[in-house]
Amino acid sequence: WFTGLSGSGKSTLTSLVNKELSQLGYQSFILDGDKIRNGICKDLGFSEKDRAENVRRVGEIAKLFSEAGVIVLAALISPFRSDRKKVRSLFSNDDFIEIYCQCSIKICENRDVKGLYESARKGKIKEFTGISSPYEEPINPELVLDTSILSEEESVRIILHFLQSKGVITLNKTI
Ligand code: ADX
Repeated sequence: WFTGLSGSGKSTLTSLVNKELSQLGYQSFILDGDKIRNGICKDLGFSEKDRAENVRRVGEIAKLFSEAGVIVLAALISPFRSDRKKVRSLFSNDDFIEIYCQCSIKICENRDVKGLYESARKGKIKEFTGISSPYEEPINPELVLDTSILSEEESVRIILHFLQSKGVITLNKTI
């Protein structure tokens, strides 16, 4: 479960990890906030209540996939601790891995890949995470990746090695 501000690298990392897992022969699947919100969560906005529902639905979908033996890579801002905690409670201990993509608002805003920060600053987008809506940092995530310092490759390597240490995957090559 990748959590972090918009622009913190969640989607990039899930996509790269997904590619590696597939090359290693594992079945994995990405649940990405942006994509999910175009479909199954199309009816939801960005109020606290709607975000809770968004996170809940994705959590339940992730659970179904994981029951089918798929490694799910969920990339959602999921800004509220209570919502993430509820998702965690759906899984047994080792089956939920919270990865905090840590990156300052300043850097995310500078990156502004989608131009959303600029719109949020101008007040064109309401309740924007980090600007006009809170982000609650994870207290005890399994992994913290400082994406302002680490390269994409380094982050991917850390994630894969963590998955190996938890017995989720076996790395049959040097990564
Ligand atoms: S979450 O808070 O409910 O977990 P989610 O990850 O699904 O959010 O969606 C976040 C994406 O929606 C962002 O990457 C951005 O592209 C878009 N977005 C649009 N409006 C907002 C907003 N007010 N706050 C955050 N993200 C927004």
